[in-house]
Amino acid sequence: MTSEQVVDLLNKDLEGEHAAIIQYLGHAYAMGEGEMACEIEAIAREEMRHFDWLAETIVSLGGVPSLVRGDMRTGGDSVSDWMRNNVLQEDDAIALYEEHIAAIDDPRTKRLLERILSDERSHRLDFAHFVDKAKKQGAEDLRGERQDRVAQILNWGIEHEYTVILQYLLHGYMARSEEVKEQMEDQAVNEMQHLGWLAEEMVGGGGTPRIEHTEVDQSTRPVDMLRADIKIEKEVAAGYDRAEKEVDDAGLKRLLSRIRDHELYHVEVFSDLLRQEEGQG
Ligand SMILES: [Fe+2]
Ligand SMILES: [Fe+2]
Ligand SMILES: [Fe+2]
Repeated sequence: MTSEQVVDLLNKDLEGEHAAIIQYLGHAYAMGEGEMACEIEAIAREEMRHFDWLAETIVSLGGVPSLVRGDMRTGGDSVSDWMRNNVLQEDDAIALYEEHIAAIDDPRTKRLLERILSDERSHRLDFAHFVDKAKKQGAEDLRGERQDRVAQILNWGIEHEYTVILQYLLHGYMARSEEVKEQMEDQAVNEMQHLGWLAEEMVGGGGTPRIEHTEVDQSTRPVDMLRADIKIEKEVAAGYDRAEKEVDDAGLKRLLSRIRDHELYHVEVFSDLLRQEEGQG
């Protein structure tokens, strides 16, 4: 099997991880606080590690990580139904990893996929357990129909955060400089925090988070990546600033201004990196 063929298989795995992450996070946010929501979020975090390992392997094989999201199972009328969907999601992942382990010869890649497969088997058991647990505990979908300006602002923020998470992860994977890699990964983690805060605020306020993203900058030259990242951070910092002035709730104001301050920090970090890269160019 050629490297390109291995990359294609790993990108399919990556797309599946992406779908699982968003599917499980969507469930965890919709359930609000509580033990089961935390456990589901912990599983989503393990899927993020899988995503990261796969993407790094793809880059080391000369490929580009796919940002396509695989198929999600978002239906279901109860938390119990959701958990059943998650079992099916894990079944698909297990079948795909088994197939890819059998097809790939390279021992390092095989070992990685076996490592991931063992996690997926464990997740499958966890979700199967949650099907009953959700019923017993009366776990509920806490999302509501709120559609006002606040809900619009929160979904705008969620959309933005999801977009930059993907963008910074991609830029980090494709960057050559260790410092750029490290900062991109760090800021992507920070954007994940923002996404979580906004989604929880949305559910707490009676709305439904819409976890979709807009176009991700796919530049590969470091200076182009950083220029795109600085541009989007400036736009969004201004957006959070306007939103903060528009809302009345004191807690929400604090949240929006805290996120804005982080975005302004990101502008500074990326601007420093850009100056360094330009100095080298
Ligand atoms: Fe996974
Ligand atoms: Fe952010
Ligand atoms: Fe940011």
